Amino acid sequence: MKINDIVKGKVVNIKPYGIFVELQDGSVALCHISEISKKYIKNINKLFTIGQTVFAKIIEIDTKKDFINLTIKGITKEDRKAFEIESLDFSKLENNINLWIRRYKEGDKSMKLNLNYVLNRANYKKYESAVKDVNNMINNKTGAGNDFLGWTTWPRDYDKEEFARIKAKAQYVRENYEVLVVCGIGGSYLGARAAIEAINGLMPNKDLEIIYMGQTFSTDYIYDVMNYLKDKKFAINVISKSGTTTETSVSFRLLKELLESKVGKEAAKDAIIATTDKARGALKTLADKEGYETYVLPDDIGGRYSVLTAVGLFPIAAAGINIDDMMAGAYDAMIETDNDDLHTNAAYQYAVLRHHYYTSGKSVEMYICYEPRLVQLNEWLKQLFGESEGKEGKGLLPDSACFSTDLHSLGQFIQEGTHNLFETVLYFKNPNHEVLVPHDDDDLDGLNYLEGKSLAFINEKAFLGTLDAHSNTGKVDNIVIECEKSDAYTIGYLFYFFMRACAMSAYLLEINPFNQPGVEVYKKNMFHLLGKKGY
Ligand code: PA5
Repeated sequence: MKINDIVKGKVVNIKPYGIFVELQDGSVALCHISEISKKYIKNINKLFTIGQTVFAKIIEIDTKKDFINLTIKGITKEDRKAFEIESLDFSKLENNINLWIRRYKEGDKSMKLNLNYVLNRANYKKYESAVKDVNNMINNKTGAGNDFLGWTTWPRDYDKEEFARIKAKAQYVRENYEVLVVCGIGGSYLGARAAIEAINGLMPNKDLEIIYMGQTFSTDYIYDVMNYLKDKKFAINVISKSGTTTETSVSFRLLKELLESKVGKEAAKDAIIATTDKARGALKTLADKEGYETYVLPDDIGGRYSVLTAVGLFPIAAAGINIDDMMAGAYDAMIETDNDDLHTNAAYQYAVLRHHYYTSGKSVEMYICYEPRLVQLNEWLKQLFGESEGKEGKGLLPDSACFSTDLHSLGQFIQEGTHNLFETVLYFKNPNHEVLVPHDDDDLDGLNYLEGKSLAFINEKAFLGTLDAHSNTGKVDNIVIECEKSDAYTIGYLFYFFMRACAMSAYLLEINPFNQPGVEVYKKNMFHLLGKKGY
């Protein structure tokens, strides 16, 4: 080791004047606060965590006094050669520094994995080499389903021209229509709905109402939606990668007919937006023929990993949500989860815990939320993990519940029923609004002891009381994911976080996370029964 060497190490101590870094050869070096950033650092604890990996340059070695001084801010692009690391790794370092500075300036806006209620901990050491191998497999695209890893770098590489078109058209739809019908199923629908409800709530003050079709054959549901649309000025976003999914195609045929009969073929064209494969499929052919605005679902991104593409982004933007913020959250998650360091990478810690529970005999993971607006996020999670992992007789069954509502139903089972499950709790600390318990002179309901308290305060106590009941009394492991706020940045972060965790988790099970061969079985039977040619 000599001056100007670039080194990698782990933060082992954080002091107001700098950080101590354990280098790969076991020596401990100091990076003084003045060498961390050119900008003034108010609270160093917000920039670093113990165990975090950092890259730095050696600026001073005193063998007599036995100290090494480092700089982080002094690393230049030219250092890349000196360290002989891949340019991608170096850019990760640059990105990380920017992110740390932003985290410091804006506060921690993403999520924290709270493992205080995990009873049966995983031995990270045991997983280190498997996680390293799988992480390489994901990044080098060498595992099963490797054609479908485009989502891993999408928050950086997404099509900027299409993104701008999406924003412009979304604004146009908001200004010119009353309703947008999102017509898709599975990965072509769940992510958009999850984000829209999580961010806007269930009764939003809306300029444009978003409703869903294409996800069911239910006569009564479809009849009701069509009946509702008769008197509305509506646009349609039809979404299907294959372009041939029957639920979506049947709904779209009905919607298109209704729209054309209401406004005429020309005006209908303006109101229809198609998101599909760039070259193939019945929907692509139709969209080209009719001249619809069209967005692309890239070849290398499968349905349930597509929420950050036009599949999710158009409806989300049309709902008035800031998709720049959402992509910023996803980008930060990409930076923070693209490494094999189990001490710091929360996505992989979560994936390892899932694997650990599965191999310890658990068969069910319950996704828990405390907000009805997050129920659809649970649905997205169930699809992501269920369709990615449930193969070859393996995988955890993803289930969900919304507390405190479901504490009065499934809560009993979780507390005292078959001991085959663990919970993954999504807890958002700050609601968007405040509601206080009012005073009542008679106090016949005995609630005056809560007078002036917010519902958020009560919900938090329900959350803490339940965690204690389920983990300490019921002996059910609880992984808690704590977020500050259900905003576009955080939801974008969570989408990427869970996709990365899911890929790791499925590969640890030696499953291809990106296919869904089992889904075809019902389709074949149905087509046969319907008399479709060739079945
Ligand atoms: O995750 C998946 O791949 C599936 O859930 C699909 O998204 C779903 O089947 C819809 O497919 P398509 O977009 O081809 O209509």
